[in-house]
Amino acid sequence: MADPLIAAALAAREHAHAPFSKFKVGAAVEDGTGHIHTGCNIENATYGLTLCAERVAIFKAISEGAKGFTRVAVAADTDLPTPPCGACRQILWEFCGDIEIVLVNLHGKSETLRMGELFPRPFDGSFIR
Ligand code: THU
Repeated sequence: MADPLIAAALAAREHAHAPFSKFKVGAAVEDGTGHIHTGCNIENATYGLTLCAERVAIFKAISEGAKGFTRVAVAADTDLPTPPCGACRQILWEFCGDIEIVLVNLHGKSETLRMGELFPRPFDGSFIR
């Protein structure tokens, strides 16, 4: 049976605003109540203000009071499923911790990892006193 989190990430990818890179990404995050929040990458003419799909999904979810995230999915059109960039790994770690992350491409190929594998030895709030 199809995984609704993957389906949501693939659907969100369709909303990507990526006129500069043409690289469309979708993300979906499941919260503690089972609700799914989605995001897509949104580019900007200055390039540097671009937001990745993962951060859009997380920030949308946080802004609506969601918490207790359990899983995140990332969808892109690459042979090897696309992992999140370094900036997104930091944000995913801070808001989600060592959760499961599912990478998927458009041909149904998927890979499931944990954030701890993708982002070992993180800098987080525990270092700040
Ligand atoms: N991008 C994401 O949205 N997520 C990723 O995990 C990797 C990169 C976006 C940023 C930019 O709009 C485009 O993909 C090319 O880097």
